[in-house]
Amino acid sequence: MRARIVDGEVGISESVGVLRGGGVVGLPTETVYGLAADCFNPIAIARIFEAKERPLTDPLIVHLPETKWLDRVVCLASPMQHAMVDKLAAAFWPGPMTLLLPKHPDLPELVTSGSEWVAVRVTSHPLFQEVLRRLDSPLAAPSANRFGRISPTSAEDVRIELGERISLILDGGKCEHGLESTILALRGEFLEILRPGPITHDHLIEYGHIHASEPALNVVNSPGSLPGHYAPKKELQIINTDINGFIPRESSGLLAFATPSQEIINRYLRVEILSPSGDPREAAANFYGALRRLDNSKADILYAEPVTAMGIGVAIMDRLKRASYGSKNKIGHQKEQGALL
Ligand code: TXA
Ligand code: MG
Repeated sequence: MRARIVDGEVGISESVGVLRGGGVVGLPTETVYGLAADCFNPIAIARIFEAKERPLTDPLIVHLPETKWLDRVVCLASPMQHAMVDKLAAAFWPGPMTLLLPKHPDLPELVTSGSEWVAVRVTSHPLFQEVLRRLDSPLAAPSANRFGRISPTSAEDVRIELGERISLILDGGKCEHGLESTILALRGEFLEILRPGPITHDHLIEYGHIHASEPALNVVNSPGSLPGHYAPKKELQIINTDINGFIPRESSGLLAFATPSQEIINRYLRVEILSPSGDPREAAANFYGALRRLDNSKADILYAEPVTAMGIGVAIMDRLKRASYGSKNKIGHQKEQGALL
């Protein structure tokens, strides 16, 4: 099977047809591409896990076209929970915010990996919304990459990741945000950020006390916050020293946040610049694509320039640390002490 990339009206109706028949389709969202299936069809859901080679213990996010659909997949427990969801939904939906809420009993357990909680979000992508409305059922969709690998931000990326395992990808262009949604758990008056994303600490501060200690790489509070996620095939090291003085190994690639000097560029076989002007939002949007190009380049080892961990920079650094986690084991390279994270 070699996935076809389709677009426009024909693409939407073909996608709905495949989903109605219990199949899976690669669909664009405003964050990253998702691999979607009807969330009320357990066999279709099983196909997602199979295509991604994802452990059944790692639950899926359910997508809606509008907040009104929330009652189809969740059962809110208390008036306080209602009030908090209403406030957050009014502020951030449709958009890149995922909430962990009590699951509706009709929702198959496979979606939530047996948990009583479901992760749910209202997507703002017009094509995804249109598919949802025509299908008239919410869609479960994890990012459309093989488990643990780099998330796709274009239809072609999905074909590279899963093209031999699925039949259809709906092309919605390049993803606007480029990083996965912010995942929030509501803990009484507290909001806990389980996965940093495009909705940042600063956006959330007026909606509750925020529990946002930097997510630890070695603590799993949401199964997907695993270390060693979003990873390239090549060794990836984060530069933790002045990039001007950093001497890379031969034949290396650099993931640069802003445009470096020519002298720095000359030290690398290949350089990818996330944002020429150093704009963190633009850097986030380009992050996975640039990492993927470096991974496919002739470079033997990849280095990344860290970004300031503020705003969306928190999410970029979270992905970068996970992408580089365990890298030293890939080709047995000795890290220079103190120079690398
Ligand atoms: O932006 C996004 O969120 C993208 C697009 C496609 O919507 N989706 C995405 O899905 O990133 P995925 O599966 O790659 O990541 C979802 C994360 C995983 O870390 C998973 O463990 C966590 O959400 N998650 C999902 N359901 C959960 C649940 N019931 N309890 C705890 N964590 C959950
Ligand atoms: Mg993912």
